[in-house]
Amino acid sequence: MPAISASYPGKIILFGEHAVVYQSHAIAIPVSQVKSHVVIQPLLSAAPGTIEIHALDTHTRANLADLPENHPLGYAVRLTLTHLGVQTTPAFILRASSEIPMSAGLGSGASISCSIIRAVSNFLGKPLPPAEVSALAFEVEKLHHGTPSGVDNTVIAFNQPILFKRGEPMLPVTVGVDLNFLIADTGVKASTGDVVTGVRARWQAEQATYDAFFQQVDTITLAARAEIQSGNIAQIGLLMSENHRCLQSIQVSHPALEVLIEAAVSAGAYGAKLSGAGAGGNMIALVNNETRESVEKAIIHAGAKRVIHTTLARAGQPGGR
Ligand code: PMV
Repeated sequence: MPAISASYPGKIILFGEHAVVYQSHAIAIPVSQVKSHVVIQPLLSAAPGTIEIHALDTHTRANLADLPENHPLGYAVRLTLTHLGVQTTPAFILRASSEIPMSAGLGSGASISCSIIRAVSNFLGKPLPPAEVSALAFEVEKLHHGTPSGVDNTVIAFNQPILFKRGEPMLPVTVGVDLNFLIADTGVKASTGDVVTGVRARWQAEQATYDAFFQQVDTITLAARAEIQSGNIAQIGLLMSENHRCLQSIQVSHPALEVLIEAAVSAGAYGAKLSGAGAGGNMIALVNNETRESVEKAIIHAGAKRVIHTTLARAGQPGGR
């Protein structure tokens, strides 16, 4: 059995985070500048069923049998074996690594789960289609926070821009013009689970108000889908900023995000917003080739810890859909 490798991108949510947990739509895109990687090699000298898991980033170096039930990497392996109906595997070592910053809204957890699921299923000669990779990764996502919408595992497993609604099949998003995004890390780590739990508590206390915000985000997201399709950059930027104002209202922004967003817009970005759970993590700004450099300088000057440039290419263009 040869070594097998699998790799999946990170992601950003362009529109609809948080509201998507409450049945609104979201738009998310893969970010191929950062990836997770898994390599599986057979362990010829070990007894069948032996599975070693090494992940230097999280200081994991253990036998699967010794990992706690809820260890995300071990859980992804076990779920895949169960799904495939495999009782005993040839002995193997699984090495996982990732360039995707953790707890930053870039989908690091879902991406590594997809890489594990794909590598294990390929290693066993039973490759899984994207929908099944996504469904298994969703089960792992539930470990990270109780009520994930499923947007992360879906956009990553399908590796294409998607319109997503909880519990429904994803729809691909057609892109009418190249869109350039700067993704800037505040350096503030936030737990998605904690932020989602906080929103739920406030929603329970003020249901009508929060439902109205989620409804507003749904309208913004569906409008954005049409503007992305027709390539109206200015309008997409305005909708991003409008979406951010809703996120401010549900109290998931953070002073460090506000500083970067303000700097990006003042330096000429079409629009900017937090992306992912918020309370830290990353913001995204929509730029063009003329403004990209000045906006990047401005956000670094304002304190961004890391900036990633990603392009969502127009349908039919290299890298585009
Ligand atoms: O921060 P991330 O990348 O885990 O994104 C969370 C997105 C939320 O909408 C806040 C939660 C969810 O499950 O969709």
